[in-house]
Amino acid sequence: MSLLNASAAALKRGLASSAPRTYNRGLKVLAVLYKGGEAAKQEPRLLGTIENQLGIRSWLESQGHEFIVTDDKEGPNSVFQQHLKDAEILITTPFHPGYLTRDLVEKAKNLKLCVTAGVGSDHIDLNAAVEKKIQVLEVTGSNVVSVAEHVVMDILLLVRNFVPAHEQITRGDWQVSDVARNAYDLEGKVVGTIGAGRIGYRVLERLVPFNTKELLYYDYNPLPAEAEAKVGARRVEDLKEFVSQCDVVTVNAPLHEGTRNLINADLLQHFKKGAWLVNTARGAICNAEDVAAAVKSGQLNGYAGDVWNVQPAPKEHPWRYMQNPLGGGNGMTPHYSGTTLDAQARYAAGTRQIIENYLQGKPQEPANVIVGVGKYETKAYGQR
Ligand code: NAI
Repeated sequence: MSLLNASAAALKRGLASSAPRTYNRGLKVLAVLYKGGEAAKQEPRLLGTIENQLGIRSWLESQGHEFIVTDDKEGPNSVFQQHLKDAEILITTPFHPGYLTRDLVEKAKNLKLCVTAGVGSDHIDLNAAVEKKIQVLEVTGSNVVSVAEHVVMDILLLVRNFVPAHEQITRGDWQVSDVARNAYDLEGKVVGTIGAGRIGYRVLERLVPFNTKELLYYDYNPLPAEAEAKVGARRVEDLKEFVSQCDVVTVNAPLHEGTRNLINADLLQHFKKGAWLVNTARGAICNAEDVAAAVKSGQLNGYAGDVWNVQPAPKEHPWRYMQNPLGGGNGMTPHYSGTTLDAQARYAAGTRQIIENYLQGKPQEPANVIVGVGKYETKAYGQR
């Protein structure tokens, strides 16, 4: 391709504004990450921590930018809220979310770009970001395999009653009947996903070899026919009908106005008695008290996941302690399914790329853009 053609092609792709932006001053980049402690000192691949700082400090500082990193995120005097007032770029993660409420968006006068190091930007008031023309990007796809694998693990540990069986062993006991009385095979069960996007579809793909009775999905964005056929999945358009057919329900949709509190006492009544529910999407999609009550009564035989409606989860959160009538059915962990060391390498690299594109005025990877300048660019955060 001649130089002329190359630049014409670049123009066509919208690269005309790709000349590096020149800054007279250093930008303020603010990152809210979680405290990694001793583990982060010993394991430099724990990139999402305040200690290891996504591996981007020297890169940012070498260009004259200021990089503030903190885990102190609550209240007006927190480092997060103090520096937010004049930061231009905010990096957050879903694992220790810096909640960017509408109120804080109003105060963040200089903010132009929010980068979620990971997937899931519900901790940011996206409608307020649209109004204030603040872009919101995430590292799409960076941890979808990590989560899909975790979902399959959670399904298996509930269906096979793994946790009480393991606890029996570490207690020094041995009574097979106590755990076998509530252990089943996944083969022959109906499994359905709420949300069949990147993670939901990967879960379906991974379940194919288990010879389930059926794989179902509920999503306003239907899968392409070939994708449906590849995994043999059937779409059910009505949510109550969908849950009433499933032995296992897995939630893989983002948190937005249409999914907040979606799984509540009313919907739980429509689940098959003794179904299992797995939620690695967002805690607030499920009503915490209603789910705990359903597990306690046996309406749900179990609930597993890693996401909580408040993070870190308070000590008294009912999901820490809930059990079914047979003393099992709790597969909760801290929020870590999407932050394996493999995932951290990917989302750290993706965060750097997004910032680099921004600094150099280069176009962003379209799949990463949740909110562009003044509008939603994704179809995943509700039907708009
Ligand atoms: P995606 O955007 O590829 O897929 C989301 C799907 O959910 C889309 O097909 C969308 O149409 C569907 N959806 C949205 N609203 C819905 C509704 N009301 N009912 C049914 N379906 C609905 O997103 P991806 O990558 O699959 O991630 C999904 C979510 O998983 C993220 O938004 C995030 O909240 C969560 N996540 C959790 C992680 C963890 O560590 N636990 C890590 C990564 C993501």
